[in-house]
Amino acid sequence: MNTVQIRRLSSRINRKTVSIVGSGPSGFYTAYHLLKKSPIPLNVTIWEKLPVPFGLSRYGVAPDHPEVKNCEETFTTCAEEYSLPKDQKHKFSFVGGVTIGKEILLKTLLDSQDAVILSYGCTGDRKLNIPGEKGTKGVFSSREFVNWYNGHPDFANDKRFTDFDWSKVSRVGIIGNGNVALDITRVLISNQIDEIWKDTDISTLALNLIRKAPVKEVKLIARRDFVHSKFTNKELRELWELEKYGVRGCIDSKFFKKGMFDLSKYDRAFNRRVEMCSEYLKPFNERSKRNYKKTPPPSNGYNKFWELDYLKTPLEINRNESGAINSLTLCNNQLHEDNSLQPLKDPINIMTYKIDLLVSSLGYAGVPMPEFSNLSVRFDKDHIANEQGRVLTTNGRIFPRLYASGWIRKGSKGVIASTMQDAFEVGDKVIQDLVVSGALSSGKSIDLSNVKHTTWEDWKRINKKELLRGQKEHKTRSKFLTFEELWSRTKIE
Ligand SMILES: Cc1cc2nc3c(=O)[nH]c(=O)nc-3n(C[C@H](O)[C@H](O)[C@H](O)COP(=O)(O)OP(=O)(O)OC[C@H]3O[C@@H](n4cnc5c(N)ncnc54)[C@H](O)[C@@H]3O)c2cc1C
Ligand SMILES: NC(=O)c1ccc[n+]([C@@H]2O[C@H](COP(=O)([O-])OP(=O)(O)OC[C@H]3O[C@@H](n4cnc5c(N)ncnc54)[C@H](OP(=O)(O)O)[C@@H]3O)[C@@H](O)[C@H]2O)c1
Repeated sequence: MNTVQIRRLSSRINRKTVSIVGSGPSGFYTAYHLLKKSPIPLNVTIWEKLPVPFGLSRYGVAPDHPEVKNCEETFTTCAEEYSLPKDQKHKFSFVGGVTIGKEILLKTLLDSQDAVILSYGCTGDRKLNIPGEKGTKGVFSSREFVNWYNGHPDFANDKRFTDFDWSKVSRVGIIGNGNVALDITRVLISNQIDEIWKDTDISTLALNLIRKAPVKEVKLIARRDFVHSKFTNKELRELWELEKYGVRGCIDSKFFKKGMFDLSKYDRAFNRRVEMCSEYLKPFNERSKRNYKKTPPPSNGYNKFWELDYLKTPLEINRNESGAINSLTLCNNQLHEDNSLQPLKDPINIMTYKIDLLVSSLGYAGVPMPEFSNLSVRFDKDHIANEQGRVLTTNGRIFPRLYASGWIRKGSKGVIASTMQDAFEVGDKVIQDLVVSGALSSGKSIDLSNVKHTTWEDWKRINKKELLRGQKEHKTRSKFLTFEELWSRTKIE
């Protein structure tokens, strides 16, 4: 179809309206797909609770991985292309600072739109559910910790972080060994290596506090064994490669030694992981492959250590007299052939680790929206029940015109590339349904005249100012850390 034909089609057919809740990778990739592929002219609106877009790309991805945030360029190009519609078949709008379910109800969207896609990610914490998890100083979930160092306005100035005595943090425990746990390990174990952090967009407030910690040891504590480690090789290698700064990785030979696995039973990635760990555990000069001897450790040797620990269940977080964590009680686990775990709680299997900071990195938890029960939307454990993205009701039927994509569709797993794939698949279902359905929505637009919100143009102003501040501070970006600062930067100067 050429531009003239598209314009004719657009003038003949009423646009259909699509609302997407959440502006993270899944929301934006769903919008992108709809705008690129829909044969029917669309008005696509992304609703975002924060005044700024991009979800975990902005507030999750580690600051020393800026290349991962390249997806934001695709989102920006898409928003720019369709925000100024003039001759375009489709229209795109961004509405920031509006929580769906609060300032605007999900029901309002459902009553006025032809399709609503829930892409609001996983906004809660999985819990250990052990004594001391709540209210102990120096105990955080990975979501809280990551949001804090990434400058999320809900956490950047949180007193639980800013009032904590970082100068006492020498031993750190992290529960779980997914890639988020590795991100957090990297941040903490290299906290005083300015070369890694100084140019990044890490919150300066957080970095200055983290830097004060004389971190000597970070233990990654997993409930299962080495074979079931959740991290991926690229991220593990990054930790090993910190050895050039005097940071050493360790794994007890109970859990890992060369020859203990029948490698023919495992895939290439696992075989590479075994080779990587076997090589890096050897002294630098004894390694056989050049790949593992890029830069030697400093002449004065290693002074910081991270350790992969396995087969443990945390039982209790213990506090000192000022209410701060001072140790963690754990027990050994037995892992059965069917992959079930048995914590061994007899005294011989119980131990205590001295710890000054504990981060539980168990994955983010999906949370239902408050209106789900009234609307009879089914929520299964940590995600919205759905069939190929079409949301299900509590009695197992398809909820008309309601979809889910990204983490809230499947739970908190998957990288940005797989989230994109998921968004495209759901986008296809939305298009299929829009093509076969007649005019469904009321055609009423949602009145925002009394709702404080940001627009794409506001975000562009915020973005420009953050980049400018960053330039002055010799960083890629210097984020505004409070809602007040963010809202005030939307004003035209
Ligand atoms: C710490 C961390 C680091 C990661 N690092 C990498 C990496 O290096 N590489 C990689 O490929 N992947 C990485 N990932 C995975 C990647 O971030 C996810 O695959 C992706 O962000 C999931 O996208 P999403 O849109 O489903 O969720 P999110 O990114 O969480 O986006 C959800 C959005 O919805 C908004 N929202 C929530 N509730 C509402 C509401 N009621 N109304 C309006 N808006 C709402 C949120 O504010 C948020 O902006 C990382 C994940 C984490 C947690
Ligand atoms: N650089 C990157 O590409 C990057 C960076 C960050 C995140 N991500 C992606 O984002 C997704 C989420 O990562 P994540 O690290 O948050 O989650 P994850 O990969 O699911 O890891 C969660 C960890 O917590 C453990 N765990 C869960 N519940 C537990 C409990 N009750 N007690 C003890 N341990 C428990 C899990 O152990 P079990 O295995 O035993 O369940 C696992 O080790 C992943 O897909 C990840 O790859 C990618």
